[in-house]
Amino acid sequence: MEFSIKNDNPETHHSACVVAGVFESHKLTAAAEALDKAAGGYVSKILKRGDLTGKAGSTLLIHNVPDTACQRLLLVGLGKQEEFGDKAFRVAIRAAFKAVHTTGAADAMLYLTDIPVQQRDTAWKVCQTVIAGMESIYTFDQLKSKVEKRKQPLRKVSMSIPENDWDVGNTALQQGLAIANGMGLAKDLGNLPPNICTPDYLAEQAVSLAKTCKLKVTVLDEKEMQKLGMGSLLSVAQGSHQPARLIALEYWGKSRKNKPVVLVGKGVTFDTGGISIKPSPEMDEMKFDMSGAGSVLGTIRAVAEMKLPVNLIGIIPATENMPGGSATRPGDVVTSMSGQTIEILNTDAEGRLILCDALTYAARYEPEVVIDIATLTGACVIALGHVASGMLSNNDALAESLLCASEQAADPIWRLPLWEDYQEQLNSNFADMANIGGRAAGTITAACFLARFTRKYHWAHLDIAGTAWKSGKEKGSTGRPVPLLVRFLIDRATGKAA
Ligand code: BES
Ligand code: MN
Ligand code: ZN
Repeated sequence: MEFSIKNDNPETHHSACVVAGVFESHKLTAAAEALDKAAGGYVSKILKRGDLTGKAGSTLLIHNVPDTACQRLLLVGLGKQEEFGDKAFRVAIRAAFKAVHTTGAADAMLYLTDIPVQQRDTAWKVCQTVIAGMESIYTFDQLKSKVEKRKQPLRKVSMSIPENDWDVGNTALQQGLAIANGMGLAKDLGNLPPNICTPDYLAEQAVSLAKTCKLKVTVLDEKEMQKLGMGSLLSVAQGSHQPARLIALEYWGKSRKNKPVVLVGKGVTFDTGGISIKPSPEMDEMKFDMSGAGSVLGTIRAVAEMKLPVNLIGIIPATENMPGGSATRPGDVVTSMSGQTIEILNTDAEGRLILCDALTYAARYEPEVVIDIATLTGACVIALGHVASGMLSNNDALAESLLCASEQAADPIWRLPLWEDYQEQLNSNFADMANIGGRAAGTITAACFLARFTRKYHWAHLDIAGTAWKSGKEKGSTGRPVPLLVRFLIDRATGKAA
């Protein structure tokens, strides 16, 4: 899909479909008003019949609007004008794309990005529109033997914004595209079945991303990990026939004198739970347990596409968690790369076991900050549902900039405490620590475990267990938190970081 920004009069603009907004109680936006006027009250007459409530996300398609240049006019409800904010804007945009797709229109002109949205500027509206547009055409049908193609897909989308905003508009357009492409990569990887998306497959994807984006890539095999002493990571892999991989991607967007941001993404390509095996219902969804890894690859892709002046490293510990004959037993004690020993009381708490070695490995890049992204705990889904990702950090400034980026990106996170008082839940009688801390505060004790491996640098942990994918009829990867991570990096590159 191609996007552009324009500033034409709605009544004279030639387009297969013009999209204009209507608030509740039939209050027309400026564009709808202009069209109505040109058409001699045609639009308001139709609205008076009551065919469009104006509720946010409602739509009405009209043909042959007299004395205008468009073939179709799509009216989109925006809700109450005094309440028109983030939520309503995004609902309206998504509804608009959905409705335009049901028509045969190959191009559309949106008069939505020029409507004032509470607390948001033009750049935000443009970026959100591009992301929503790209999401509306996302499909995952590469594994279906028959694919129905649309006869005439929507190819060109123009957005109306005032001329004095064109510079910021164009930048936002490029950022939106990069974010959407990054999300697309994260989604594809998440949606791929676990018999295709193996640790080796993730490594191949990293290598091909490195080729197209001119990045440095390193892939460690099990022998090399053994040499580094990654006993914790390897203990997760030992029950599987698929060999584990440790992937490192390096993007140097400015002088190497500047310390890099390091992203560490959990890459469990399938999580059966191991010997502490999971119940069968919905176990297929554990193919999404590599979503942290997918978001790291997606974010690097976006950053490289924008050529952002930042230094960024992506580290992905990739493995399956299987209950094979050589699998780790509950009660096994392993030694991590840091030298700390771990009593594995539950083999299903495997994410932290692979992350801890990857986090120790991260220190070699002398990072400015390290952020890990992981589908780590079911407890996080209980705490925050599918709306916000969990965030825990050992540094307030880093936590603040993540919260700020999250707000900007409309990719919500919520900070949970990482107090020392929780650490004692990880006490073990037989090793330096246990890998589980009981049912209480499961997301926090998981982060407490990781905190024992990140004392040397500023670090934040994102638990995306509830936000990385959707279940049910709409089952599929969401591409989150790519929007948050990319915004965080844009803020750093442009000096806007908190
Ligand atoms: N990948 C899961 C976490 C998960 C579960 C994410 C459900 C999304 C939905 C993780 O490896 C895991 O199994 N965690 C355990 C930890 C427990 C054994 C301490 C959990 O949350 O049950
Ligand atoms: Mn698990
Ligand atoms: Zn897992």
